[in-house]
Amino acid sequence: MTVFVAGGSGTIGIPLVRALVAAGHQVTALTRSSSKQDELRALGASVAVADALNRDALGAAVQAAHPTHVIHQLTALPKDGVRRASDLEATNRLRIDGTRNLLEAAVQAGVRRFLVGSFAILSPRGAAAAAPDDAAAAAVRSMESQVLEASARGAIEGVVLRYGLFYGLDAPSTTAMIDMVRKRRLPVIRGDAGQLPVISIEDAVSATVRALDAAAPGAAYDIVDDRAVSFTEIVDAIAEYTGSAPPRRVPAWLPRLVAPYMARVTSVRMPLSNAKAKAELGWRPKYATMRDGLAQMLRHAA
Ligand SMILES: NC(=O)c1ccc[n+]([C@@H]2O[C@H](COP(=O)([O-])OP(=O)(O)OC[C@H]3O[C@@H](n4cnc5c(N)ncnc54)[C@H](OP(=O)(O)O)[C@@H]3O)[C@@H](O)[C@H]2O)c1
Repeated sequence: MTVFVAGGSGTIGIPLVRALVAAGHQVTALTRSSSKQDELRALGASVAVADALNRDALGAAVQAAHPTHVIHQLTALPKDGVRRASDLEATNRLRIDGTRNLLEAAVQAGVRRFLVGSFAILSPRGAAAAAPDDAAAAAVRSMESQVLEASARGAIEGVVLRYGLFYGLDAPSTTAMIDMVRKRRLPVIRGDAGQLPVISIEDAVSATVRALDAAAPGAAYDIVDDRAVSFTEIVDAIAEYTGSAPPRRVPAWLPRLVAPYMARVTSVRMPLSNAKAKAELGWRPKYATMRDGLAQMLRHAA
């Protein structure tokens, strides 16, 4: 296959490009930044430099790559984490306008299949629990429905992959958490009843590669591991596996006051099933649970 990866230089993009090249596909990775070209070429990909919000430039980049498949992994989240809803504005724009531009470019270039990486917690089911009228949830809803509607009208084969929260030693969110746990700066929440859907980046990549040909057109899949976890369980596990002091325990109102967006996300109760992804994609997560994944990754790194 000839695969165009929008977001090819991102946290999932880099290992995804590497895995696609290893599987024998021709890959073009999109970035806005010429300075990332060498790194992407070293992975074995061709590079397209364009802004996804520039409709004409993106259209030309997709046409030039002649892809059979497009994978949409665009986000613009702050590198030091999302603290408030306004931190999501640039990503919301990419999910609405960037998706429209990329989808239009793909249809015009005669692309067969369009995969979009979505975020389970803000997907239509999760959003009801997390935030019914939130702009971020509306943007995810727009992104998913644009792809599924294009698929329903036969313009392209659209597939939605609803990833759990990413983790891995290459994920900035995980390394920041490890650093904070080591310094005993990341508290856990008393009575934390959250059930967060999670997935290692390695497993998100393998599911995405499988979905290129195995997913049903017009389908949405929850790409999560076998068991949801609470934020407290994650922090406690990092402390245990890194030999750090036990995290401080704080009442739930404190994070709601200091970091309202994070507090809302971490209190989500969303135990999703990966049964459909396992059955239809022929995929299994390498790490059944986040505890397994973190234990193995941290042991390996040590
Ligand atoms: N992180 C998570 O926990 C998480 C969880 C669930 C789902 N997801 C999904 O995973 C995907 C990507 O997440 P990520 O963590 O890999 O993001 P990331 O590391 O922030 O990477 C973002 C990518 O988007 C590109 N990009 C941003 N703005 C662009 C623009 N205007 N035009 C062209 N490219 C642009 C960046 O390219 P340049 O900067 O090189 O231009 C980069 O390749 C998304 O589909 C997201 O919904 C993430």
